[in-house]
Amino acid sequence: MHGKQLAGEKAVEYIQHGMIVGLGTGSTVNVVLNELGKRAKEGLNIKGVATSKFTEERANERNIPLVDVSEIDTVDLMIDGADEVSDQFDLIKGAKGALLREKMIATSSNRFIVVIGEKKCVKNLGAFPLPVEIVPYAWQVTFNQLDQLGCRPNLRRAETNIPYLTDNGNYIVDCHFENISEPSILATRINMIPGVVENGLFTNLVDTVIIGTEKGEVEVKV
Ligand code: A5P
Repeated sequence: MHGKQLAGEKAVEYIQHGMIVGLGTGSTVNVVLNELGKRAKEGLNIKGVATSKFTEERANERNIPLVDVSEIDTVDLMIDGADEVSDQFDLIKGAKGALLREKMIATSSNRFIVVIGEKKCVKNLGAFPLPVEIVPYAWQVTFNQLDQLGCRPNLRRAETNIPYLTDNGNYIVDCHFENISEPSILATRINMIPGVVENGLFTNLVDTVIIGTEKGEVEVKV
């Protein structure tokens, strides 16, 4: 069994009756949605907050009730995958382009659980290119300003070679930094660029990391 399957299944154990649950985006979260769909059918009464159209569609297919984030005060628990997780619980997220909504829901959540296969664990972040959501207007200006931060930036493109569009109608620049030694400082510097909407560095947000190993074990780090 894949590590992410084990991690996703374990995370569902933290969902309790009556909770508002933030639902991240990606294949590991799909495992969570599969399990949650089964439990909702059995009578578990929860409401989900989807962080992407992708997740919204999958939740609807599984009859998981959803609520709009503007209709609630707080999210009890957010469960999401990640692209890299450091020893300090800092994350790179956004490979599926959902980083803005994921960060908005993660920061409004009482508890944030990250679910990953063991290959996502790293000592320092940065081998995975950092996704940065930017406004399409004069995108080259923002691209050049990201370049000046010392990374190798790449405008993400859709299969048809036109720029990839997020659910918010923005572009993504994938920024290859190689090694991010101070994620909080870098996140602030990136977000000071006027054309930047949000970056995929998640720092000081994670409460629990659930790691599934290829050997079939589950490790819970708090
Ligand atoms: C979505 O934009 C990302 O932040 C995902 O959380 C991340 O890409 C994890 O996806 P997988 O679970 O498919 O690896």
